[in-house]
Amino acid sequence: MLRKIKNNLKIALNRAGMFLEFYQDYKNYKRWNYNNPAVKTRAAQESKMLRQTHMIEKGMSLSAPRKGFGQQKIKELFEMMDQYLKLGYPSDGMPFQDAIIVLNAYVQMQRKLGYENADMIEKLKSYDKYRIDGLTAGIKHDTRENLLSNADKPFPEFFYSRHSMRQFDGRTINVEDIKKAIKIAQKAPTACNRQASKVYMYTDKETNVALGELIAGNTGFQQEVQNYLVVTADVSAFYDTFERNQVYVEAGLFSMALVEALHYYGIGSCILQNGEYHKKNRKFKDICKNIPENERIILFVAIGYYKDEFSYAVSLRKNVEDVFVVK
Ligand SMILES: Cc1cc2nc3c(=O)[nH]c(=O)nc-3n(C[C@H](O)[C@H](O)[C@H](O)COP(=O)(O)O)c2cc1C
Repeated sequence: MLRKIKNNLKIALNRAGMFLEFYQDYKNYKRWNYNNPAVKTRAAQESKMLRQTHMIEKGMSLSAPRKGFGQQKIKELFEMMDQYLKLGYPSDGMPFQDAIIVLNAYVQMQRKLGYENADMIEKLKSYDKYRIDGLTAGIKHDTRENLLSNADKPFPEFFYSRHSMRQFDGRTINVEDIKKAIKIAQKAPTACNRQASKVYMYTDKETNVALGELIAGNTGFQQEVQNYLVVTADVSAFYDTFERNQVYVEAGLFSMALVEALHYYGIGSCILQNGEYHKKNRKFKDICKNIPENERIILFVAIGYYKDEFSYAVSLRKNVEDVFVVK
């Protein structure tokens, strides 16, 4: 009897502790997400600009970029850039430079499509004085042959040669190729070797079309994606409050290994976010039909074979000094 009471008390304390930790997560996220107007850190301003710039470079990397797309987004990006300078942050920072270069590439591309916005071009010219030469950003044109010739090279060349693909050719994916890639991804580090990640693939058109319609982040290239991989992690692989975010770490590491392995086997991919909303996740599970309640959908991967020729977004990275802190 006493043992039972003790046990129940232990469970109750554990649940209360779990609640308090999730509450701390909530407080931390509420305080620091960049939509909170009180957050004016350099990192937050740079993240805002990077995301906005990425939306432009992503639009440019599609098979058929739209004439004059993204004008409202560009206006917002200008506001972010001005705010960034007003707060005294450095114009030679990579995110600010990325914005300038991508916007200039956008203007050039749009000219070829027969579109010009004089106000936008004038505003963009006002940032010329900040521009540093020698950086490459925007989009790059490439061929499958060239890209895959790097897949057999030493690790750095191989690793640098994977890019998120938003253009795919129409060939049907060979499930055996995916299996080989998943076998490699399984070698990703995994918390206490519990291997909580799983991948679901659907070969029928209906399921993939339904997923594509619900997934956010595939706008403009949805029609080229024949298959999505659904990456999940099993919540019941974890046991205590301190492991509450482990599903994301597990599936994150696994997914990175997976996209690299897919690239190695000649398959292009693009990770697509899963907006973590309850109702939407319910809908995803209704579409998939075979993902159990104990598994959380962490992300989706759009996959397809590389086209003969294509463009991809460069997605310039920060300076290593900005992400490696040694003391
Ligand atoms: C968690 C995560 C979510 C992502 N979501 C999307 C998405 O919804 N749509 C998209 O086009 N790309 C998405 N991406 C791809 C990123 O935009 C891409 O990795 C980034 O711009 C860097 O480019 P790279 O992968 O070509 O090096 C996502 C990547 C990650 C890691």
